[in-house]
Amino acid sequence: SSRTFWVGGNWKMNGSVAAIKELTSTFNAGSSPSDVEVVIGAPFVYVHLLSESLRKDWAVAGENCYVKASGAYTGEISPEMLKDVGAKWVILGHSERRNILQESDHFTAEKCVKALEAGLKVVLCVGELLEEREAGTTQQVVERQLAAAVNVLKEQDWSNIVVAYEPVWAIGTGKVATPEQAQETHAAIREYLKTAVSPKVAEETRIVYGGSVNGSNCKDAAQKPDVDGFLVGGASLKPEFLDIIKATQ
Ligand code: G3H
Repeated sequence: SSRTFWVGGNWKMNGSVAAIKELTSTFNAGSSPSDVEVVIGAPFVYVHLLSESLRKDWAVAGENCYVKASGAYTGEISPEMLKDVGAKWVILGHSERRNILQESDHFTAEKCVKALEAGLKVVLCVGELLEEREAGTTQQVVERQLAAAVNVLKEQDWSNIVVAYEPVWAIGTGKVATPEQAQETHAAIREYLKTAVSPKVAEETRIVYGGSVNGSNCKDAAQKPDVDGFLVGGASLKPEFLDIIKATQ
């Protein structure tokens, strides 16, 4: 397809100045295919350091943001601030924000709007809980999460969005979705975007898979027609991440 393969790392609440210096020197020395887009998400306090130390052919992401540019919002970080310290992307709606911090579909969608307005690109995460998959409601859940964003975004916004499908039962559990499970949901997401937004947006939007991706299981999943890359948690803190960005090679 015409969709550039996209691989993101999400460090979550991990790292230190020392660890980041070591990891970036490993990543900076590695080979990175020119036809793969690579992004690393870091905790807010390390975004500046990461954007200064990371190779320039990779981009940096924040892992969240607020919905205002500035003001009396103690403890919050604006998309404008992320941009100011070198981030090009922000990860929004990660399952840990939805489920641990109880952030709603609506709030997540509003963050997407504000981040895009500020000039950041967005990784919009969606995915079902184990009980939702077992109840057969995966598609409904993912569509409900996407619909909140579809309702407030303009068609052209989608050129700056990557959708990350992350089944919650596969995150950090070592229980990776099969390539067939990922393909099935990705295809359904693309079909949803076709009717809810437009055929063009459905065709052009990268839909990436996240949940226990590693250097060995990435190759098969990368072959699936609707799997346009990965969002990697644990393995993005290791040299192994360099193997995942070569999943299609
Ligand atoms: O954003 C990344 C996902 O939550 C996946 O995390 O690769 O550690 O399972 P994981």
